[in-house]
Amino acid sequence: MLRRWAAPLLAAVLVLLARPALGSPGDRAHVFQSCLAKCVKINCTQSEGLARGLLWTCPDNCKYQCMWTTVDAFVENGIDIPQFYGKWPFVRWLSMQEPASALFSLLNLLGHVLMLRRFTSLVPRQAPLYWLWVTYSLVCINAWFWSGVFHAKDSKITEKLDYFCAFSMVLFSFYSACIRFSGPQLSCTTISVTVLCIGFMAYHIMYLLLVKFDYGYNMKANIIVGAVDVVIWLVWCAQQRSRCTYVWKCALTVILVSVTILLETADFPPLGWVLDAHAFWHLSTFPLPLLWYR
Ligand SMILES: *[C@@H]1O[C@H](CO)[C@@H](O)[C@H](O)[C@H]1NC(C)=O
Repeated sequence: MLRRWAAPLLAAVLVLLARPALGSPGDRAHVFQSCLAKCVKINCTQSEGLARGLLWTCPDNCKYQCMWTTVDAFVENGIDIPQFYGKWPFVRWLSMQEPASALFSLLNLLGHVLMLRRFTSLVPRQAPLYWLWVTYSLVCINAWFWSGVFHAKDSKITEKLDYFCAFSMVLFSFYSACIRFSGPQLSCTTISVTVLCIGFMAYHIMYLLLVKFDYGYNMKANIIVGAVDVVIWLVWCAQQRSRCTYVWKCALTVILVSVTILLETADFPPLGWVLDAHAFWHLSTFPLPLLWYR
């Protein structure tokens, strides 16, 4: 039963998750554009060199300032809170653009670090899939690190690193499901799956970097690999349920991952200009590794 709805659910939800790349009501508004033009003209011409921060350039600061001017104007006129460049307005904190999502990304990272330490202290190195789960852990830690960086400050580079590393996490989960299925021994299947996954990751990065940074394609790749991953794990759980008592933890994690993505569909202006659905999503995924590694 679970198998039947998990994949379509995940797919439907991920489609809704796709965010517009550029152009939102906020940044398209006249009040924003004129404020930005004026601010850049006054503040960012001669003193650019001085005003330039490490992360926040002068035009970035103007965008931030004009974002709040625009939000005030919208609220005064009784218009819904707008997004800017595909994002809700967030209060900057310790020069982090989306402090809640950034901190919750680090919380996820911490969850993986803690469980990796537990794993390496409890599981003997000779265990058949020891290397697989240590690698999985490192892939996740890396991905959550870049997610944190991207939410702290978006730029063309941090966005790409976040997207690529997030995909590497989805793809590695799929890979681990395949390896768990085929067994730890070096076989034709394990070699094929390894080559296929490395090839797909390389293709994915090359295509997005060299051909087109295509949000639609990226989303589809995540949906398809993620959905197949969920199905494989649930099939494996169903097969193993009588043999291992811990299998329910695996099934539950996989189902919860699909359910937490629902939070992304509830897109609302951030509470207190801090907590939006995306932040809640990152918060909700943080306990999952604690269950998964068991
Ligand atoms: C730009 O200059 C104006 C006028 O001096 C000032 O009020 C404003 O805070 C400055 N904005 C930024 C982002 O530096």
